[in-house]
Amino acid sequence: MRKEGLLLAGTVTKGKTARKILSPFDGAVVAEVAQAEGEQLRLALEAAKDARTSIASLPPHRRAAILENAAARVQQEREFLAQLLVEEAGKPLALARIEADRCVETLLESARVARSAQARLLDLSGFPSGEGRWGLLRRVPVGVVVGITPFNFPLNLVAHKMAPAVAAGCPIILKPASQTPSPALHLGRILVEAGLPPEAISVLPCAGDAVQQLLEAPEVRLLTFTGSAAVGWNLKKQCWDKRVTLELGGNAAVIVEKDAGDPEVIAHRIALGAFAYAGQSCISVQRVLVAKELYQTMREALVAAAERFPTGNPTDSQVLCGPMISAYDAQRIVDWIESARTRGATLLTRFRREGSVVWPALLENVPHDHPLWCEEAFAPVAVLEPFEDFAEAIAKVNDSRFGLQCGVFTRDWGKIQQAWEGIEVGAVIANDIPSWRTDPMPYGGVKQSGFGREGPAWAFEEMTELRLLVLTKPPGA
Ligand code: SIN
Repeated sequence: MRKEGLLLAGTVTKGKTARKILSPFDGAVVAEVAQAEGEQLRLALEAAKDARTSIASLPPHRRAAILENAAARVQQEREFLAQLLVEEAGKPLALARIEADRCVETLLESARVARSAQARLLDLSGFPSGEGRWGLLRRVPVGVVVGITPFNFPLNLVAHKMAPAVAAGCPIILKPASQTPSPALHLGRILVEAGLPPEAISVLPCAGDAVQQLLEAPEVRLLTFTGSAAVGWNLKKQCWDKRVTLELGGNAAVIVEKDAGDPEVIAHRIALGAFAYAGQSCISVQRVLVAKELYQTMREALVAAAERFPTGNPTDSQVLCGPMISAYDAQRIVDWIESARTRGATLLTRFRREGSVVWPALLENVPHDHPLWCEEAFAPVAVLEPFEDFAEAIAKVNDSRFGLQCGVFTRDWGKIQQAWEGIEVGAVIANDIPSWRTDPMPYGGVKQSGFGREGPAWAFEEMTELRLLVLTKPPGA
């Protein structure tokens, strides 16, 4: 069994207590991970405060070189890191490898952002009050960053917090998800080995309420949180005097218009978006809206794609739908499906549960006030519904308190524009599923889905603030 210490100011450190991490698939103990307590959080904060000057004064090319070194090391350790994701998150091996590769891109893109930071020259003489003055505007690091990350992408979503912090010149203290702490501990270790000043990074698995101590510290200037909407918005209230970035949940929809194209290909993409990693992504497909002319055909193609979706043991490299994060969550989704059926919904697939593995479920006739339609399922389940016209489809997508991403399959550019204008989300993905993401792009939601954007260039902006120098001629010059 692996034993993991804390990463306290860049140094692997024992904890007074440890937590056993059980495999979500078979319950085996896969690791024992040290837990941080008050004193260690205090020391991490002291180190981060001290590191503000050293990391801020590293020139951008040095920050970029650290990130590029780290990217090379992640590439070298790809199999080890992927294995951690399989063990702790139950992520299917094929998807775990993809996550490790995405982490490399996140690090490299952050390096690019560090290298391409720009300052602006402003002519301030647009009004008489500014005559003869020039402004030089640059971005400076915001200060200590606290990151809190979820269980579902325990490596790459951690990279989305650590790497832009390095690019921006901010020390970071990260609290990883309790179930999946090891990838974050190892990414922190890799950054230190790649040249990051050790005191600029701490990774502290700890109880959720322990981070309160960090959030109360005035030197912590930014909280960047990825997780549930309930927790995220509550944290934002507490952090009223800090910057906050929230990447929260969703119940993503995809629209399939009658001119969409090959139903088999589209069904294959939708099944991937709905069922890969047991639907445990914030942009997993949950609602599928199909033009009535295409409904029967898409329904058949989707049922076939769901029935053959490779489900089961995450160590099998063919499997794409592994276990849910816990048997409790697996049972929750069974209960949701049963309660939808009692309210008239029809289950279209041979759905079943074995331990924490649930087989893909497709339903139709789900009432719009049922959680399968209006809450975040975070499970391998999708709801099908026909629509009469495109405006109705847009209204149905917007019938949600969430708004992260939406997919639209159509060959009609006018409809794509209509979707882009009318759908309340952070991103519309034309001719693909809402679950598509490339790491450099701006990522985040509207409504209850979040606040601010990630993607290294955008996180860099959140982690820096503007500082202006006003240039005035010396008196008499
Ligand atoms: C998320 O669940 O928000 C992250 C999805 C992704 O990065 O693919």
